[in-house]
Amino acid sequence: MDISSSLKEEVTPSLALSKSCDLSKLIFADTKPHFKKSNQSLIREFDNDKWGKMLKLFKNCSNRKLEYLEKIEDGEEDKFVFYKNKYYRVDPSFLRKYIKSLLIKSVKRLSNIESIDHIVELGSGYGSKLLSIALSSRKLSKKKYIALDISNSALELINSLFNEKNINLQTKLFNYRDELITSLKLPNPSLLITSYGLHYKKEFTLLDIKNFISSGFVAGIHFEPCSDLIENLNNKLYSSLSIKYMIYNDYTLNISSPFIKAHEERLINLKISSQCLGVGLLPGNLITWSVKKR
Ligand SMILES: C[S@@+](CC[C@H](N)C(=O)[O-])C[C@H]1O[C@@H](n2cnc3c(N)ncnc32)[C@H](O)[C@@H]1O
Repeated sequence: MDISSSLKEEVTPSLALSKSCDLSKLIFADTKPHFKKSNQSLIREFDNDKWGKMLKLFKNCSNRKLEYLEKIEDGEEDKFVFYKNKYYRVDPSFLRKYIKSLLIKSVKRLSNIESIDHIVELGSGYGSKLLSIALSSRKLSKKKYIALDISNSALELINSLFNEKNINLQTKLFNYRDELITSLKLPNPSLLITSYGLHYKKEFTLLDIKNFISSGFVAGIHFEPCSDLIENLNNKLYSSLSIKYMIYNDYTLNISSPFIKAHEERLINLKISSQCLGVGLLPGNLITWSVKKR
């Protein structure tokens, strides 16, 4: 995706930031979580609220397609993106299309994709990214897909979308705050995908990556907000506010560090894109890894 042609107009930091959050509340808040995330709060946020409401609309509509759900999720209002030290107005669908294009390109570029039968998404939601990967080529549509999520409503939606396209999907209700991925007995070799799916964990550590590897994942592609990369941005106003926003919302911090440690311990080959981009105060980086052959 050509980012530059998707940027509508440059806007002031004040407009972009105040449209992305309650700016004065964030600035004057103590540097601690506004409320702590818990299993109950995540089920309320996603299963009852976000995906639960979408499931009701989906069941009552005649156009049961991915695009219908994506339009609901995107909303109607333009969003604001921080890109190369400036702020821009973008279409509501900008981030979704951007992440999809990165994930699809990265999956196709994996050197061992031919030998991987299973593609697993952790925190799949209704499958916007996973189904788009599956539909992006004939070869990818023949793979087997596994969706893991804490929300039953999300899994019902993704099941329906994959069924309609006749693509092989297994779903599993899974809470990564409480359960170990190793308990799932996933097929080996598998590819792990996440997109804004890791930052609801209590913490993300090297052990999580070791568990990914012992679960049969031979590679991973992630688009995640990483406070440990955000803090290196040159624009200190944006990086400080973004990190405060992550703390305020009790999102998992330092997601890139365990990948870097795993690379230093020669467990994985690692690539982290230098481009840190996203709407509002939660930008993400693309992280790709593959298990190092011994
Ligand atoms: C921001 S959404 C992203 C959905 C999808 N990856 C995408 O990009 O469209 C985060 C997803 O993570 C799921 N999730 C949140 N906490 C979780 C947990 N503890 N275990 C498993 N999934 C979780 C939510 O239900 C939701 O579907």
